Amino acid sequence: MGQGSKRASVRRRTGRGSAWARLACVAAWALAPLGAAAADAPEVVQTVCAACHGPDGNSLAPTFPKLAGLQVEYLEKQLREFLSGKRKNDLMDSSLPALKAANLGDVVAYYASQKRSAGTVSDDKLAAAGKAIYDDGNTGSGVPSCSGCHQPEGEGNARYPRLAGQHATYTMAQMQAFKEGTRTNDKARVMRAVAARMTEQEIAAVAEYIAGL
Ligand code: HEC
Ligand code: HEC
Repeated sequence: MGQGSKRASVRRRTGRGSAWARLACVAAWALAPLGAAAADAPEVVQTVCAACHGPDGNSLAPTFPKLAGLQVEYLEKQLREFLSGKRKNDLMDSSLPALKAANLGDVVAYYASQKRSAGTVSDDKLAAAGKAIYDDGNTGSGVPSCSGCHQPEGEGNARYPRLAGQHATYTMAQMQAFKEGTRTNDKARVMRAVAARMTEQEIAAVAEYIAGL
């Protein structure tokens, strides 16, 4: 699926917008990442990481996380933990020699400064159920609200990563990994404790909502 159809689907949800505004918007979008990538992106980003994460950190494949707009603190923590083996993934591991040879601070600064593209919501009903969990949690099963840490619009802050606009497929996979204990790099087990209390249906719903934030 192309980015054009993603925008279209986001637009459908929000309604309105003249054909001209839509065209201008698509044109601006199509030019922006090229310009941004040309402006001092570290070499490793374009020659290695871009294959999966996209030239501007907005991956197209939903199994690869968008990195654009993630906080400096979070990006740095994750990359150091991939390098030390505290967080593991076969696909990422193949890039670690290149990452080791690069200037980590430059790579982090590049992705943190990119603008995250809008995500796709394909099931509005599911997203509405997800909003209830995101905003209020589930008091019956002790799921806390996500917004308390990740912020009401999912933008995050220096302590809690941005979630807004992330691919639902990736978000679901991470929640499942926290739930099953295959991702264990969350300090004080905070995300493992959250995910353990969630049903698969709740995880799918909240991931769908996050994609549209
Ligand atoms: C072959 C595909 C591939 C390549 C190339 C790749 N990655 Fe990844 N990356 C992934 C996958 C898959 C994940 C999700 C890992 C997981 O499930 O834990 C990931 C996760 C990440 C994350 C964590 C994102 C988050 O939201 O927690 C960062 C940061 C990252 N990659 C940076 C990089 C950098 C920098 C490079 C280049 C040096 C790179 N990646 C190259 C596939 C790739
Ligand atoms: C008490 C604070 C807190 C709450 C509540 C919380 N989170 Fe998190 N979350 C974190 C922290 C801290 C991390 C970063 C973990 C790390 O360092 O790897 C995180 C990471 C994540 C990630 C991984 C992001 C990525 O790019 O890989 C996802 C997905 C996530 N949280 C979803 C949720 C959802 C959904 C909820 C609500 C059901 C929620 N979180 C509630 C603190 C919280």
